[in-house]
Amino acid sequence: MTIVGRFESCHLAGAAGPYATYAQLRSSGPVLRTTDLFGGAWLLTTHEAVQAALRDPRLSARRTGGWVMRNSMRGSERRRELVGLQRLFARAMLFVDKPSHPRLRQAMQAGFRPSAIEALKPFVIGSVERLLDDMERTHADRPCDFIECFARVLPARIIARLLGLFEVNATEFLTWSSDLAAFIGASLPDEDQTERALCSIMAMGKYFERVLEDESSFSQDGILRLLVQAQKSGQIEKGPELLAQCAMLLFAGHETTRHFLGTSIYWLLRNRDAWDSIRADPTLVKGAVRELLRWDSPVQYTGRRANCDLELHGTKIRRGDLVLPLIGAANRDPAEYADPDAIQIDRRSGMPLSFGSGPHVCIGAALTLMEAEVAIAAIVRRWPGLDVVPESDNWIDSPLYRGMASLHLRLPPRPGRATRATHAVQERSVLSGVLHEAEPHWNGGRVLTSLPLERT
Ligand code: HEM
Repeated sequence: MTIVGRFESCHLAGAAGPYATYAQLRSSGPVLRTTDLFGGAWLLTTHEAVQAALRDPRLSARRTGGWVMRNSMRGSERRRELVGLQRLFARAMLFVDKPSHPRLRQAMQAGFRPSAIEALKPFVIGSVERLLDDMERTHADRPCDFIECFARVLPARIIARLLGLFEVNATEFLTWSSDLAAFIGASLPDEDQTERALCSIMAMGKYFERVLEDESSFSQDGILRLLVQAQKSGQIEKGPELLAQCAMLLFAGHETTRHFLGTSIYWLLRNRDAWDSIRADPTLVKGAVRELLRWDSPVQYTGRRANCDLELHGTKIRRGDLVLPLIGAANRDPAEYADPDAIQIDRRSGMPLSFGSGPHVCIGAALTLMEAEVAIAAIVRRWPGLDVVPESDNWIDSPLYRGMASLHLRLPPRPGRATRATHAVQERSVLSGVLHEAEPHWNGGRVLTSLPLERT
């Protein structure tokens, strides 16, 4: 058995990321023991091992118990609260097995059907164009933080729309999402991270309780509607189970996509040939999005717990052991991908493991692909000469997520730039008569305080 020590410390925040470390791990074997992550876990390092594990029914998705176990504040009020958080989140689809998992997934599946995603596309196009207009208006003569102005805002707007919310408080929404991400992303969350996650999940729970009580506060064609119907028909339990699905969707749909939008633009700008190719032939954006997901997966690993004693690639795993399929390592495995450490947007290698595989494969994958394709195509088209301000990429320090806290871009002047009024007309046609009537609200510090969403 190969034991690796300080795995986590090898996760250097920065553009290079953990990929050199993954290559070393892979060369030591497909299943390795780490002593420092989550108090001991098995790392899966190859494409074959990761894919097989995600489809293996002997590995359970129920893994939130560790959140409490690894927290030493025995008997304290904080620990009791943490148990509450764990109990709530443990009901979310992402963390449950059969028979609850298919029951919950089926309840919301209709909201993610290809027809539903297609119906959302005009809204995505309109939202992208408006955000780019805003960036152009406010940052014509100074660098613009792409993460703050675009990558954080777009997924929040889209997920709110998908759920069927008419209006959300963006500041609250983004805070909840960041707090939960920091907690879930840390292998040993500190007191501050734990406290913030607790406050955010409680606030999220209260928010959804309020929204779900008043059926006029969400639309008839969103996922909240599907969940309420499922609750009425007995498919989903009222209370924690229903709230857990809402919180999971809001969080899962936002945190990952925002990172992906940021890293995609960064890597395309750092690989100018790829950028120019998309500019010359916009149909290449589809392949580019899949390749960028492979190249720098927003989610680097997931977790499973062995529900029996078993053997993986000749290594004995004991019941209850934590197994971490390293998605980021699988996506760079030379046994699966020729020249894995190069970005090749015309690679025809199918979907990488970035959305997982098996029963828990990301339910939002098609939405993400559409959103990223629309956003990247619009940005390349609008600003062919877009540039990164050197060394402005500020990467987050998390072993779980790859993404940036900020990324400053210089917007090139646009010859014959369309006026805002012209865009409003274009948007009206793009949205087939559906218009955003209201402007987003900004506070003095340029933080979005509300995101108006139009009723259709
Ligand atoms: C770049 C964007 C995204 C990435 C990289 C991503 C990644 C993933 C991964 C790796 C999983 C599987 C986790 C596991 O097996 O343990 C997953 C599941 C999930 N994702 Fe995503 N995701 C993204 C976007 C979204 C969006 C936009 C939504 C919702 C609107 C979403 C909702 C979910 C849900 C609900 C699950 C749980 C599915 C289940 O348990 O059956 N994700 N995602």
